[in-house]
Amino acid sequence: MLLSVHHLRKYFPVQSSFWRKASGFIHAVDGVSLFLPAQQTIGLVGESGCGKSTLARIMVGLIVPDAGEVFYDGKKISLENSQQLNRFRQNVQIVFQDSANAFDPRFTVKKILEEPLKINRLKVEGSLYLRKILESVGLSEEILLRYPHQLSGGQRQRVGIARALVVRPKVLILDEPVSALDISIQGQILNLLLDIQKKYRLSYLIISHDLKVIRRLCDWIAVMYLGKIVEFAPRQKIFNESYHPYTKSLLQAAQLSALTTGSLGIQGEPPSPLHPPSGCRFRTRCPFAEKRCQEEEPLLTPRGAGHKAACHVFV
Ligand SMILES: Nc1ncnc2c1ncn2[C@@H]1O[C@H](COP(=O)(O)OP(=O)(O)OP(=O)(O)O)[C@@H](O)[C@H]1O
Ligand SMILES: [Mg+2]
Repeated sequence: MLLSVHHLRKYFPVQSSFWRKASGFIHAVDGVSLFLPAQQTIGLVGESGCGKSTLARIMVGLIVPDAGEVFYDGKKISLENSQQLNRFRQNVQIVFQDSANAFDPRFTVKKILEEPLKINRLKVEGSLYLRKILESVGLSEEILLRYPHQLSGGQRQRVGIARALVVRPKVLILDEPVSALDISIQGQILNLLLDIQKKYRLSYLIISHDLKVIRRLCDWIAVMYLGKIVEFAPRQKIFNESYHPYTKSLLQAAQLSALTTGSLGIQGEPPSPLHPPSGCRFRTRCPFAEKRCQEEEPLLTPRGAGHKAACHVFV
């Protein structure tokens, strides 16, 4: 495993007024373990607010978890060891969900790309190196003097990928890499991601609510619900032999929305992450829930060939 996380937990305090102590906690990530093999791709899916971006930010060292551990290349990453943390941050890069706000508007593309080199104290042949990186994401050097507002959405996303690539990382975490783009550009960016993965021997964690994107790019799929991974399996197993009713309803919703206009989604709203249901968190929306689902939390148990699911009913 190149990158792995173990039992991660992150609760965000909720304050009812400025001076008061926390009146509650949002259970954003609640006991997540995940393993990313070298040069492979994991897809992370789940409804809005289930904790995907928080998990991604912990995995690149931008958010400190309340509990749990991150391992890179067999070594535990310690937050106190700044040298190790810097090396880790160089190796594991993130492309942010919101490319429109991901850059400093006062920086030209050149400065945007040079900044990570400076921070990581990497010496490279200046403009030739940047030209090569731009080329690998399908941009030409004339873009170097433009500001973020002078770029199209697709160009901005390519600059985001280029910025992650300049420090020669081993892992890229891509948070909704194509959701803000129109369909024709989406295809181009997905092809680009496949090309650069091969070229730079990268491992990916891709967050997307679009199962078509996940199906195309990923070797493994992790399904997240209210701060927990409820199913993890090789791609084909998720699409053909899933166990968890939540995974099944996500797949069904994706099929239905492909046939009709407008997203149909799953029945009802997800419960508040401030007060997740007891036992299985999906039980309040699950048509198969039994008494046991309310009383006992299902653990992620092996279902053969790397497949794991957390469900009492479907075993
Ligand atoms: N800095 C923060 N402070 C307080 N709450 C936060 C913070 N960041 C995220 N949250 C809360 O944590 C939960 C998980 O948020 P997160 O952004 O990880 O979800 P997500 O799965 O990425 O959603 P989306 O698909 O909409 O991007 C949400 O309820 C969110 O409101
Ligand atoms: Mg997000």
